[in-house]
Amino acid sequence: MHPDALGQTKDALATVLGERPPPDLASHVVAAFAQHVNPGFLEARKSVTEAGDEAAVEWEGQGSLVRDASGREFIDLLGGYGIYNLGIRHPDVIAAVEAQLHRSPLHTQELLDPLRALFAESLAAITPGDLSRAFFCNSGTEAVEAAMKLAMWVTGRHTFVAADNAFHGKTLGALSLMGKERFRAPFEPALISTTRVPFGDAAALADVLERAEVQPAAVVLEPIQGEAGAVVPPDDYLAEVRRLCTAYGVLFIADEVQTCLGRTGALFGVDHWGVVPDIITMGKSIGGGVIAVGAIVSTPELWKVWEPDPFIHSNTFGGNPLACAAGIAAVHVTLRDHLSEQALKKGQRVLDEVRALSERHPDVLHDVSGRGLLLAMHFASNEVGYAVAAGLFRRGVLVAGTTGNARAVRIEPALNIADDLLDEALGRLAETIDEVAGR
Ligand SMILES: Cc1ncc(COP(=O)(O)O)c(C=O)c1O
Repeated sequence: MHPDALGQTKDALATVLGERPPPDLASHVVAAFAQHVNPGFLEARKSVTEAGDEAAVEWEGQGSLVRDASGREFIDLLGGYGIYNLGIRHPDVIAAVEAQLHRSPLHTQELLDPLRALFAESLAAITPGDLSRAFFCNSGTEAVEAAMKLAMWVTGRHTFVAADNAFHGKTLGALSLMGKERFRAPFEPALISTTRVPFGDAAALADVLERAEVQPAAVVLEPIQGEAGAVVPPDDYLAEVRRLCTAYGVLFIADEVQTCLGRTGALFGVDHWGVVPDIITMGKSIGGGVIAVGAIVSTPELWKVWEPDPFIHSNTFGGNPLACAAGIAAVHVTLRDHLSEQALKKGQRVLDEVRALSERHPDVLHDVSGRGLLLAMHFASNEVGYAVAAGLFRRGVLVAGTTGNARAVRIEPALNIADDLLDEALGRLAETIDEVAGR
């Protein structure tokens, strides 16, 4: 033990309690990241380092505004890569979590926990078709694991089909579906056998299923690819995937970890095309931006394998009372405040404005893609993307590239971002792109 462990933890707790002035924090946090977390993170925060300030230490936020420890304010156009559909610290979610916090933050594990039942009921109310049984976990990747296990269990088969450039998480099962070689390669061959097909190409999927000697347990797809750069498939794609899966007796898992709860301008990505998958995975925004929550929802038919022994796949913290309180509030606020509709309308505005910028500077900004408020700007190169992200950072706007690649820079703000704040952010974006184009 460090000789001053007691003093160190006292200071750390004082920071948590807000007793230590935040401006002191920056250099301490940078050093502690380097020594106790991973110095690689300091290098990876490229937009921040290129902007000449690697010590931007997050301190507080509300709605679509974030402040760092020195009091600088940023407009949040990133939305935590899709966790902040409701913005930061939404008052209704905080109230729900606080109410539960004062009753019982976790559960005994033995008595029936009421909020788990109510949250499952809420999810059944908003998911398509007869998807009506829910299982809870604490992250997106765990949701994908649960969906994969359910598919293997129901079909008795052990392989999968996933899309090129797909992102489904980084635990071993979900990682097997990963499109990006960089994340997968160090762990092969320990992963589950997965055939990859081009996203959006139904004929390629038909070919794989047609030629398979043994069918896969499931086809796993993001309805709109997020991490790949907000890629929207052709309009007939998901319906054709559904048809093929049914025809070949293969399950269809829609990974909606990033697209759930209104993000793309519909409650779920599959809703744009009226498609009902066999299993939907959720994560990110489903905890209302306050608690980490993951979930899968499926049909009574598939759930039958799970009923004789619910502990075959279970966990300690999934569906805990705080998580469910946050989730119930998040679903209600999404419906009450018409957040899907807001996302659709604001997303179209951003698309139009960014498209105009791309017409003004075609050499810098090649394209903009996505739907609702899951959007991405596609720049001429990594360097140009970083330069834009850094320029925006200097102007007090947060965005980020996809992991390890700034050619595609995502725009994924809160669905309820105020119009004047969105205007302001778009103005600063135009200024930044003009500047980068003029270099
Ligand atoms: C579609 C999709 N699935 C799964 C995941 C993994 O979620 P988590 O990072 O919470 O494990 C992500 C994360 O970005 C995602 O976008």
